[in-house]
Amino acid sequence: MKSILVTGASSGIGLCVAQGLRARGWRVFATARKAEDVARLNVEGLESFPLDLDDSSSIRAAVDETLRRTGGTLDALFNNGGYGQVGAVEDLPRAALRAQFETNLFGWLELTNLIMPAMRRQGHGRIVMNSSVLGYAAFPYRGAYNAVKFALEGLTDTLRHELHGTGIHVSLVEPGPIVSRFRENCVPHFHRHIPWQTSIHRSQYEAQMARLDKPGPAAPFTLPPEAVLAKVIHALENANPRPRYPVTVPSVAFWWLRRILPVRAMDWVLRKASGGGKR
Ligand SMILES: NC(=O)c1ccc[n+]([C@@H]2O[C@H](COP(=O)([O-])OP(=O)(O)OC[C@H]3O[C@@H](n4cnc5c(N)ncnc54)[C@H](OP(=O)(O)O)[C@@H]3O)[C@@H](O)[C@H]2O)c1
Repeated sequence: MKSILVTGASSGIGLCVAQGLRARGWRVFATARKAEDVARLNVEGLESFPLDLDDSSSIRAAVDETLRRTGGTLDALFNNGGYGQVGAVEDLPRAALRAQFETNLFGWLELTNLIMPAMRRQGHGRIVMNSSVLGYAAFPYRGAYNAVKFALEGLTDTLRHELHGTGIHVSLVEPGPIVSRFRENCVPHFHRHIPWQTSIHRSQYEAQMARLDKPGPAAPFTLPPEAVLAKVIHALENANPRPRYPVTVPSVAFWWLRRILPVRAMDWVLRKASGGGKR
């Protein structure tokens, strides 16, 4: 039975991947940061314990617990837990950017580096990073999230070089819009950090907030999290995992368009696609 550690398994993509892999016979360590989610996941029959990406001691304890349960091995890691900081670049306080990087990058790197010795010892491993179309296409009002996903892509490309020939493979999954709790989970971070009522961008924020309140998919081409699961399965189980897996039509389209179009034309496309930042 192959084993995998999943972060951010309380909802959305992480939960879907944890359940989907378990159904395929994987031993899944489905971690979450809140005690009630850990309890729920255990009741559902997944092996769950706490992992908060903002807390080094929590990351260390989760790695220790994983290796204790497996006897020191782990076949795969799905780096997934995180959130999106919305806001214009000129409205971003240092604390907002720092928090975005703490959760979505520094925690992922710390966890990966703690798992790596076990993978090197056993001579194989799969690491899957849940990036985004926003890891290579910059959208207005998504500067913090763009920055952290671009950084993740750079770090992962470097890691892939450094792991070449070790038997450890690292892949990026790059979803476009996916049904999850992502949108609603962005809201508290927006209110905590962005002084939107006094901002020059206030009318854009109001349009974005109205969109966040609407039920149902907020963007065209939205897919269920099973679309990501399918790519994660390929990255974990195929003999030749790909470095990148775009998921959804926008991810594939923007990947090719940015190779073909001049920068100014691509900027126009991205502004149009984001409703000029209203979406
Ligand atoms: N949905 C999309 O359209 C989309 C598109 C591209 C990429 N992604 C990426 O997909 C990943 C998962 O997001 P999702 O769409 O599934 O949204 P989601 O339903 O909001 O799930 C996010 C998960 O991350 C967890 N998380 C947040 N902060 C954490 C922390 N400090 N430590 C540990 N876990 C933490 C959340 O836990 P709590 O329940 O405790 O908050 C939740 O389990 C993210 O990396 C996101 O960037 C999503």
